Order: sequence, then structure tokens, then C-alpha cells
Amino acid sequence: MQEKIIILDFGSQTTQLIGRRVRELNTYCEIVPYNKFPADDPSVIGVILSGSPFSVYDAKAFKLALDGIRGHYPLLGICYGAQLMAYDNGGTVEPAATREYGRAHLSEVDHHDPLMRDIPVGAQVWMSHGDTITSLPETFKVIASTAKVRCAAYRAEGEKLWGVQFHPEVYHSECGTQLLRNFVVDICGSKQDWSAASFIESTVAALREQLGDDKVVLGLSGGVDSSVAAVLLNRAIGDRLTCIFVDHGMLRKNEFRDVLRDYQGLGLNVIGIDASEKFFTDLAGVTDPEKKRKIIGRDFIEVFDAEAQKLTDVKWLGQGTIYPDCIESLSITGTTIKSHHNVGGLPEKMHLKLCEPLRLLFKDEVRAVGRELGMPERLIKRHPFPGPGLAVRILGDITPEKVRVLQDADDIFIQGLRDNGLYDQVWQAGVILLPVQSVGVMGDERTYERAVALRAVTSTDAMTADWAHLPYEFLAKVSTDIINKVKGVNRVCYDISSKPPSTIEWE
Ligand code: XMP
Repeated sequence: MQEKIIILDFGSQTTQLIGRRVRELNTYCEIVPYNKFPADDPSVIGVILSGSPFSVYDAKAFKLALDGIRGHYPLLGICYGAQLMAYDNGGTVEPAATREYGRAHLSEVDHHDPLMRDIPVGAQVWMSHGDTITSLPETFKVIASTAKVRCAAYRAEGEKLWGVQFHPEVYHSECGTQLLRNFVVDICGSKQDWSAASFIESTVAALREQLGDDKVVLGLSGGVDSSVAAVLLNRAIGDRLTCIFVDHGMLRKNEFRDVLRDYQGLGLNVIGIDASEKFFTDLAGVTDPEKKRKIIGRDFIEVFDAEAQKLTDVKWLGQGTIYPDCIESLSITGTTIKSHHNVGGLPEKMHLKLCEPLRLLFKDEVRAVGRELGMPERLIKRHPFPGPGLAVRILGDITPEKVRVLQDADDIFIQGLRDNGLYDQVWQAGVILLPVQSVGVMGDERTYERAVALRAVTSTDAMTADWAHLPYEFLAKVSTDIINKVKGVNRVCYDISSKPPSTIEWE
């Protein structure tokens, strides 16, 4: 049985990060809404309560009686989680005189406490709360303080119950990993046996059990998630998996050919379909971004479905859905976070059951699984690329000629990033074809041609992003190359907007 830590989600933005950090300790964990504790799951070894956008004394605050949890499992409350347990047991939580955001340093640490083992005095921790615990319940005692926050961490005496008001899951908390290790490994007793290899072994066995002799069809996009899902399924059921890779005409330069070759090299049973003409015809003259997306989504389903109908006896649709997609749809605060399901609508239309072997993995774990499965680095490290492809990077209507111009410019930029060792330093990059023309001079001739924008961002999850601070010399070289080599472009700009308030894609 795979032992696990349960993280009860009270709606904090960093809940997913807690999950990632626990997984980094080779310990399996699941994030569930705060009121959905799996009471009869014998594999639970400990429980973490997350932060929350609310104050514990808000009328709307998420409340939880810890019956069935407290006393049964080791418990760690983080921020709101800590405040909630203090408040519900007679402590006081009040708005902090000055809101406590950002870095602080531990000034006192009780090294006898197992949660604080090897946490040095002076360690940087990350605070992010408007409230603070001003008095603790009688049986709780302070085990760490900062200059401003006396109760930075506490323990309930005689119980396995701890609270920390800072965020150990945030990378800026220097002692965060150590603190989480103390809890997960020392206190909860994790055997730390969760790894890419163990995941593959148990998932392949589970897939064989789940699928029996059934056949599966899966849409490949060239991206990491669908590729890893395909290779994993292929390992489980071999040629009973058929993959379909649709070229909508708006992939990167030579991408269809190159990626198809990679897939075949991996032994996948894959059908490549060049449907670009259909997409170009249906998109002709359409300028509205949402309409473009809708047409592409609809056409994709039509093409995929028509091809899948040629296969006999298919019962399942394989998908590369990953954990953040599932958690987003679970989101308890009702905040809508944009999620993209490019084959949304397919399972209903095709009357297929869904098979999502990666639905419990974070992106970096998907990559680790891909590596363990022997997939080439160029597939695993590929930047995210939107399902509608270059269509959302051509502002205005789409023509094959504009796609060609953009593919050539994009190819120079991406190849340049690779050649200069910058590709792996950015989250994703691409070029946008702008709907403006401007005057230039080439040789003795006046030109009146298109402008393109380069976009490169750093990010960890695409929810927030900063523009990548690429070296000026590199940008200058890319600009010159694009203008000299791509006919139809005479101006290059660099997009220096962050997300929010901008988005990564322009459309
Ligand atoms: P935005 O533009 O919302 O993009 O900041 C966030 C991430 O999502 C990708 N993206 C998409 N991916 N289908 C996809 O599969 C889409 O329709 C789509 N739109 C945006 C974008 O490239 C970035 O990684």
C-alpha cells in the first residue's frame, strides 16, 4: 500500500506547493478540499492543514472540527491551518499591527522539539499573513519566534500537533525543506519510497488491471504530458494503444515531421494526419481570438473523431491530464483559474471512458517519469506550447503565408535560445506576428513590412510569469537574423510584460 500524507486545502495559493515539496521528499501526498478528509483510508500517515485567504474569525472562514484526525495522525498546520487550531482551542488570533509579509528570521528556536531539529537560529522564513496568533491555548507552547512574531511555531504538549505561521513550502524559507522533512519523515515516519520508478511500476500494473484487453486511443500534441502518457500506456498495453497526432497547420516549423519521427522511434503506434487545409479553410477571415480557438477546437474534434472511428472496438480515451489541472477544477474558493483542455468535449462525443494515468503528477514529476521511461530530453524538456498553436500568436486573421513567416521567425528565436544555452532557462518562448506594418530601409530601398514581438518568460507553473531578462547581445543577434532572413519582417520588439497583468500568450 502506498503510504500518503493528506493535505487539507483551505484555499491558499501555496497549497499545491506544499504538495510538491512533500513529493520532493519522495513521499506520496494528496491534496483534498479541507472538508473531504478520507476517513477510512488506512494508508494515511500524517495530515497538513494549508493556509487560506480568510481570517479564522471571518463568518465565511472554512471551519473544520478535527474529529477523527487529531489524536489519530500527526498534524501540521501552516499559517491559517496553525491559526485555526490555536483559535479553536481557546487561543487568540487578531489582525497583526503591521501585516507580516516577506522575509523574517528565526530569533529563537526550541531545538528539543522534533519539528525544529537542525533548524538554525537566524534561518530565513517567509511570512504572508495579515493575522497573527496573540495568545496560545494553555497546552500549546511556542517552539520558534522571530523578532516580530513571538509564536512563529508552536506545539501542543503531549500531542503530535504542530503549527507554523510562516510558509515552509515557499522556496524563500531556507529551512522549509528541513522542517517538512522533520514532519514527514521523522514524525510521520514516511519510508520515502515514492519515486518515478515506483510510480511507473505501480501505474503500469494498475493500467493493465483497469484496461484488461481493451483498446485505447490517445491524442498526441507534441507536448510533454500527452507524450509521457502515451509511452506509459504503451508500456502497459503495447499496440492496443493507438495514438493520433493531428497537424492543424499551425505547429512550429518542421514540428510535425520531427515529433512524429520521435514518436515512431519510441515504438508508439501513431497515426499522423495532415489536416492543415481544413483548418486554414475554416479559419479564413476570422479575427476574433475566441472564435479562432473555438474553430480550432471543433475542427480538432472532428478530425480526431473521424480517424478514431476507423479503429475498431476502442473503449477508452487516453489523456495527459496532470495534477494541477485536477486541483484547479477542485478549487474550493471558486476562483476560476484558466485551464486548457484541448480535446475537451471529445469523451462525451465519442462515448469513451477516460484514462488519465498522470492525473496525480506534478509537471516536474511527469518529466522525471518520462526520463525514467527512456524518452529523449528534447521531448521531455520541450517548452509548453498552446493547443491552438501559432493561431494565437498571429494577431488578426490567419493565412498560410503568415504562418510561414511566423514559423521562420520563431525557428530563429528558438534555435538561438538552444544554441546559446538559454532554452532551459526560460519556461517558454515564441514569436508573435503583429497586425502592424512599419517603415524600414534595407539597402537603398524603403520597406513597409511587418513587425514581430519576441516573448520569453520565466515561470514555475504559467499562473504567474516574468519576462525573461535575456542578454541584450543575444536579442540583438536574433533581431538581426530575423530581419535579414525572414522575408516580410522589418522590425523586432521584445515583450517586457509580466503575468499578471498581461498573459503569456497575446491572444
Ligand atoms: P496564458 O496566455 O493564459 O497562458 O498566460 C498560460 C499557459 O497556457 C498556455 N495556453 C494554452 N495551452 N491550449 C493550451 O493547451 C490553449 O488554448 C492555451 N492558451 C494558452 C500558454 O502557452 C501558457 O503556457
